[in-house]
Amino acid sequence: YQRSGGRLLHELTDRTWPTKSLVRAPIWASVDLRDGNQALSSPMDIERKSRMFELLVRMGFKDIEVGYPSASDADFSFLRTLIEQDRIPDDVTISVFTPAKPELIDRTFEAIEGADRAMVHLCNATACLWREVVFGMSADEVQQMALRSAEHIARRADAVKGTELRFEYSPETFNVTEPEFVLQVSNAVTTLWDASPDRPVTLNLPTTVETDSPNVFADQVEWMHRNLERRDAVILSVHPHNDRGTAVASAELAVMAGADRIEGTLFGNGERTGNVCLATLALNLFSQGVDPQLDFSDIDEIRSTVEFANQLSVPPRHPYGGDLVYTAFSGTHQDAIAKGLAAVERQAAEAGTSTTEVPWDVPYLPIDPKDVGRTYESVVRVNSQSGKGGVAHVLKSAYGLDLPRGMRVELARRVQQVADGDGVELTSRELRAIFAQMYLEF
Ligand code: KIV
Ligand code: ZN
Repeated sequence: YQRSGGRLLHELTDRTWPTKSLVRAPIWASVDLRDGNQALSSPMDIERKSRMFELLVRMGFKDIEVGYPSASDADFSFLRTLIEQDRIPDDVTISVFTPAKPELIDRTFEAIEGADRAMVHLCNATACLWREVVFGMSADEVQQMALRSAEHIARRADAVKGTELRFEYSPETFNVTEPEFVLQVSNAVTTLWDASPDRPVTLNLPTTVETDSPNVFADQVEWMHRNLERRDAVILSVHPHNDRGTAVASAELAVMAGADRIEGTLFGNGERTGNVCLATLALNLFSQGVDPQLDFSDIDEIRSTVEFANQLSVPPRHPYGGDLVYTAFSGTHQDAIAKGLAAVERQAAEAGTSTTEVPWDVPYLPIDPKDVGRTYESVVRVNSQSGKGGVAHVLKSAYGLDLPRGMRVELARRVQQVADGDGVELTSRELRAIFAQMYLEF
């Protein structure tokens, strides 16, 4: 993890900016199958859910929220299938979401019957707008609702045999709830569940609708982190949504402010503008030389499974996974990349090792595409904006053609004429054809 990108910003520039980066991976929790699924116009069927679940397990997720079984028969039967077919690995905890209503909690317990391990995730909205407009309740009544439900869950849990149970509480709309009130409810629920360092309760703080800049959310998380009665008995989790487009920053700053765990989805599916994208967060860590503890070595396979499950495509510029993110169209970028790649190859040759064994210091490419299963070949494409460096690099990497300088200039001029004329990008084959036309055909 020290190789890909780790040195790019930190060592090869004379950077003197003050920095504070993440040094270790948080606990990752996928909510693809719950928050992600509930936001789909066509929710996942069992085949799509299974493919998503298996992907998450393969990638190394240990906390997977698998559904909202009291609201959806499809979620209920998916859970039953996972449990009855023994498809949950020993080191994975499935989580099930439930609102604060006794009959829904009962149905949730039916769904997890027979599981070896499970987390029951209780949620109720705490903000004033929800209290007054949605529930027509006072703050005290909302707190009582949370506590009665937590108590109901504790009673049901006592009666369950053979299932290792954990608990999670989300004060939904945390970010717009009065601080003293949300702290009071959170403390009361964790106390009621007998949280201890050996049996910690997960307290999940959502930006149900992201309303403020990431530093504000981080301050809120830090305030909870400093003021919780039993911080030692709580796994402090965050659940950023992306309404302002700043969910990734919110999550990163929240971890710097004291959070231990992040809930999100792969490529950011979820209500409205989505949940925080876990692929971006994990690969941001990777690019800083920190092991994300999730396997992204085949990002195309991950992306196609997620696209299949969600029936939504990942945009071409999505960080790390989009079609175009290891591609440079402009000549200056292509030239710089070509020089960087050549330097990596030179260093590897001098050390008598492979290019993957030497540090990745390539301009404009924060990680080596190979680290996520992408290839150098797709790095440089050529269009009317391309310069001689890019054209030469494509011909060298695709066909081993090492052009002298004069020829590069001449060829680049001709390539630009063709690309301008056609208004499209040119592939390496088309470039070779232009080269052949100019220099090989008499
Ligand atoms: O966004 C949210 O507040 C949620 C909770 C229900 C955890 O998804
Ligand atoms: Zn959510």
